[in-house]
Amino acid sequence: MALYSEKVMDHFRNPRNVGIIENADGIGEVGNAKCGDIMKVYLKIEDDIIADVKFETFGCGSAIASSSMATELIKGKPVSEALSLTNQAVVEALDGLPVHKVHCSVLAEEAVKKALLDYYKRNGMTYDPQQFEDHENCGSCCDHNA
Ligand code: FES
Repeated sequence: MALYSEKVMDHFRNPRNVGIIENADGIGEVGNAKCGDIMKVYLKIEDDIIADVKFETFGCGSAIASSSMATELIKGKPVSEALSLTNQAVVEALDGLPVHKVHCSVLAEEAVKKALLDYYKRNGMTYDPQQFEDHENCGSCCDHNA
């Protein structure tokens, strides 16, 4: 069996929503200290809907595919739905990632959440900090610090 699914290869070769958004309503940048990959997500939010989303990823193929899929999963969705995006949903939508690449999908989730947090803060909106907690307890399913 191939190491990477066709969907991973497709989103790696033809990533969706690459770029930046001028005057974004929320920006989230995250990085993984060990592998050095960096991901930046830009959100345009209108009437509580993710009207547009773009990303820049300097990283591995799985990180690019994960960012691409994560942006596709939240585009056009209500903010509350984007907030509930999980790295597992990204992995499933990509038809799986090798275990040692699951942390790449975590980076995508974190970038989206950080951009949403930025949006909340810029607008002085109240939010539940728990929704933005790190993956402190995910050691059993993935090692996103690996
Ligand atoms: Fe670190 Fe992919 S190897 S994000």
